[in-house]
Amino acid sequence: MIHVSVLGYGTIGSGVVEVLSTNQESIDKRAGQPIRLKYVLDLRDFPGSPIEDKLVHDYSIIANDPEVQVVVETMGGVHPAYEFVKEALEKGKSVCTSNKELVAAHGAELLALAKEKNVNFLFEASVGGGIPIIRPLNQCLTADEIEEITGILNGTTNYILTKMTDEGSEFETVLKDAQDKGYAERNPEADVEGYDACRKIAILTSLAYGMQVDYQDIYTEGITKITDVDIKYAKALNAAIKIFGTSRKVDGKVYAMVAPMMINQSSPLFSVNDVFNAIFVRGNVLGDVMFYGRGAGKLPTASAVVADVVDAVKHMGKNIMTIWSTKKLELASVDEASHRFFVRLSGEKAANEALAAELFGEVEEVTAEGVTGEYAFITKEMTEKAFKDASCKLPSMISRIRVNF
Ligand code: HSE
Repeated sequence: MIHVSVLGYGTIGSGVVEVLSTNQESIDKRAGQPIRLKYVLDLRDFPGSPIEDKLVHDYSIIANDPEVQVVVETMGGVHPAYEFVKEALEKGKSVCTSNKELVAAHGAELLALAKEKNVNFLFEASVGGGIPIIRPLNQCLTADEIEEITGILNGTTNYILTKMTDEGSEFETVLKDAQDKGYAERNPEADVEGYDACRKIAILTSLAYGMQVDYQDIYTEGITKITDVDIKYAKALNAAIKIFGTSRKVDGKVYAMVAPMMINQSSPLFSVNDVFNAIFVRGNVLGDVMFYGRGAGKLPTASAVVADVVDAVKHMGKNIMTIWSTKKLELASVDEASHRFFVRLSGEKAANEALAAELFGEVEEVTAEGVTGEYAFITKEMTEKAFKDASCKLPSMISRIRVNF
């Protein structure tokens, strides 16, 4: 029998407890032996709850109990999760976590420690919630050189952009509605500013190239500047606006960024709506593959955590090799990345056309029903740097969005 303890009885932690209990029989069968919950760590009390008799407030009880062989970390945030996880690994316990902040900041170091102690540090739920993506990258796509990973990696922002598209509403209105329904956090900054997606693409890129990608190095732009008028233009183009986390290897250099993109039906990510996530991977021999599902939420995320627990139990005394070294991967400057750009200028076409042509050459004009007093167009493909240099000479630019078609 393997004893497991859960750190943090919030949404995901309570989901893990629920999944372990609901699917106990099949989980035990798949793990090859019974898995039982011994402790739950939380600062709060939960009188009358099913874990009342397992609740502890002092982490050292778990850390110092040799019977606990697997620790599930679902507290979130870097501290004290990092210290707790490190101590668990040092004491020869495997750790399964859903915590992307922790994995993005300390993944390589904790993997090295797990290897040294011959245990496992597993983090399937840290990216894409219930979608299997970490294990496929680590264990299935190993014959390929990864050329691109592009994902809709954040459910909250995908929900907001989908609602803005379906209802024609403004960002602030939809955000408030999402908060009222519990789909968006009261403090939505990490989601809407793209920080959450940034950590997730940092983790995926680190795994794809086997080196440490510092999330602070990734150019990150959120969705707070996307307006209902941008959506009208997208609709006129039969396109959609999505926020992508993306990394690409071009001529041996790796680029990574998080930013809103205008995409059309030619993208496999076009139909990924609401809270769903999807991750598109291109390998040099496999070609394209896509992973789709629920990227957030109590039970989908808990499903991935418990699958890691089963894997940890199946690999007791054996470290699962993961290529993610502490050696830093220097990302190429996004200035060199190329896209087309959708640009909105205030003022009529006649007042803007000549300057736009002078700066961008031939452009594709875009009009949208009910939008007046501005001139909008899509440039040809150009580098970020060339666009920046040209657009700073445009006194009337309202906004710009990268275009992926
Ligand atoms: N806030 C995240 C999201 C939760 O909306 O996708 C899952 O990481």
